[in-house]
Amino acid sequence: MPYSDKILEHYNNPRNVGSLDVKSADVGTGLVGAPECGDVLKLQIKVNPVTGVIEDARFKTFGCGSAIASSSLATEWLKGKTVDEAMEIKNTAIVEELALPPVKVHCSVLAEDAIKAAIKNYQEKQDVTADREEPAT
Ligand code: FES
Ligand code: FES
Repeated sequence: MPYSDKILEHYNNPRNVGSLDVKSADVGTGLVGAPECGDVLKLQIKVNPVTGVIEDARFKTFGCGSAIASSSLATEWLKGKTVDEAMEIKNTAIVEELALPPVKVHCSVLAEDAIKAAIKNYQEKQDVTADREEPAT
């Protein structure tokens, strides 16, 4: 059995499965695919616009058990972090925490890529909102 107890525990009891309102200005959505296998992961963050702290995170994946476990762990790590801190989450930390076998390392890359994509989407939304709030002269 190549899978650690931690992988199995997250796989059997995944945290934060679901969706947040994709239209909300406070929600960033990342949708990424793994070229290695074609699996897809959607990961979302809800950011407090005042503090910049991630208050909620959810995921859905058409992915393998290791993608589920990596995403579940990632959403746990995201909650309570600032957006800047979240940028520092590395797939290697997920590999280490879950003891992913080598053939499943890309599943953790999927999670890191989805975090980055969700943050980028959130930041783009803030730029657009800021533009809109510019007083017309
Ligand atoms: Fe089948 Fe990822 S390709 S589980
Ligand atoms: Fe591709 Fe896990 S096998 S994400």
